[in-house]
Amino acid sequence: MRAAIEAARCGLDTALVTKIYPVRSHSVAAQGGINSALKDTDSWEAHAFDTVKGSDWLGDQDAIEAMCKEGPGDILELEGMGAIFSRDIKGHIAQRPFGGAGYPRTCYLADRTGHALLHVMYEQVLKHGVFIYDEWHVTRLVVEGGKVSGVIAMELDTGKLHRLRSKSVIMATGGYGRVYRTTTNALSSTGDGLGLALDAGLPLMDMEFVQFHPTVLKRTGILMTEGARGEGGFLLNSLGERFMEKYAPKVKELASRDVVSRAEQTEIEEGRGVDGCVLLDLRHLGADTIKSKLSQIRELAMDFAGVDPIEAPVPVKPGAHYSMGGIQADMDGQTGIPGLFAAGECACVSVHGANRLGGNSLLEAVVFGRRAGKKASEYAESAGLTPFPDSALCDAASEVAGILKREKGERVYALRDEMAGVMEEHCGIFRSRERLGKGLERIREIKERYGKAALADRGDRFNAELLHMLELGSMLDASEAILVSALHREESRGSHFRTDFPKRNDAEWLKHTLVAKRGNDFSIGYKDVKITRFKPEERKY
Ligand code: FUM
Repeated sequence: MRAAIEAARCGLDTALVTKIYPVRSHSVAAQGGINSALKDTDSWEAHAFDTVKGSDWLGDQDAIEAMCKEGPGDILELEGMGAIFSRDIKGHIAQRPFGGAGYPRTCYLADRTGHALLHVMYEQVLKHGVFIYDEWHVTRLVVEGGKVSGVIAMELDTGKLHRLRSKSVIMATGGYGRVYRTTTNALSSTGDGLGLALDAGLPLMDMEFVQFHPTVLKRTGILMTEGARGEGGFLLNSLGERFMEKYAPKVKELASRDVVSRAEQTEIEEGRGVDGCVLLDLRHLGADTIKSKLSQIRELAMDFAGVDPIEAPVPVKPGAHYSMGGIQADMDGQTGIPGLFAAGECACVSVHGANRLGGNSLLEAVVFGRRAGKKASEYAESAGLTPFPDSALCDAASEVAGILKREKGERVYALRDEMAGVMEEHCGIFRSRERLGKGLERIREIKERYGKAALADRGDRFNAELLHMLELGSMLDASEAILVSALHREESRGSHFRTDFPKRNDAEWLKHTLVAKRGNDFSIGYKDVKITRFKPEERKY
């Protein structure tokens, strides 16, 4: 939405194509906040250093610098658009500590920040006259003569396929968290854009880096915001120990997410967990702080785990949360196809490298959404319309007809669940060649079966099963790209921990992974990391 607003502001006819209603986009679930160095006692350079360190030195420093330098302006602009932020005692935007940050620089609205920002974005989209195709699912990117010419999208209400012709296309399709079973991600986070990009011949970058958030409510995928630890919450094991003292003596619960999730998983696997979880203890914060700053997670813990954090610790465990990897894009969202741009979680610019800091994803979406919207407008103004081949619609229609025609076969829901189980078991927090290799074999085998799966519902109107089927194609591609990339990277860095290669190895692996689809196979390549002012050093918290 931020990209669409910018394109409309530049005077372009702009449309937003979204498979769900815009205010249900997954940014709505971002709880804890958005980072920026707003205070005189903080600086964009300090924010950039924390981000580079958080990324385990894999983030591109020119992009990180741009994000941290431009971020404060974007926050003030959001405020000007009407975004509500919690306030400090002086009436300034309040900022709380977050993991891996050397300064309290996460701006927030209690624990509902994404919700607040998404609604402001939507108001602005309406205000700027952006046309919205809501509940339209893009099934194809159309590229002709090496340039983008638009997309094919299915109107979910009728099942009709439409050609949408455009000079520029910006992909902002979010993450793929649903390839895992335990995830904070919405049902809609199925990596659709990644599948489209792979099919268009584009490489994905750094797909092995999957973020596991340390505090996901027991037996659910519900996020318990990092803001809870930012406000002073403790993590305890079954012995009542604040175990993070052992893993990150200086900052404890406020180490970066990869460090905290690994620590939790170690405690659980070594037998100091509590029914497969650890405990998030907020009781010492007091009822007033919990009610005013963490009211949503209190409600969620009460409703879904039967625990009131004012009275008892909350059982939590790590869960898939964010994709650091994505469609390779530059700082203006440009991909390898002229006219095609990517921004937000589906893109890899890369500002998060091997591990994202909490609070940097909303910032990335806003800063690089704005930049992509501007560049896409400039491109559209200078470029002519690329021809839109008739065959594109025919091919898309015959793909869908082929699925609908199959009368017998496995059900898509079962395959989707099996895939999520494989990813959880074989490509989680701790990885090894053996585990990853088996996972890859199983995903390839599920892919084969996917090609023969059949639907029980073969109707046109709002066929959710057909949507699940189309989504599963992208999810299987994303899963394979993650596994292949993870298998190749023989070192441990950020969120990618190999038990068979437990150390970071800058001499051989200080480089981005590129993975591309070549027919039915995936090929691997590499790209240098951009280092400007922060030379790699050991990462300790
Ligand atoms: O924990 C959280 O509130 C999540 C924030 C984020 O992923 O940036």
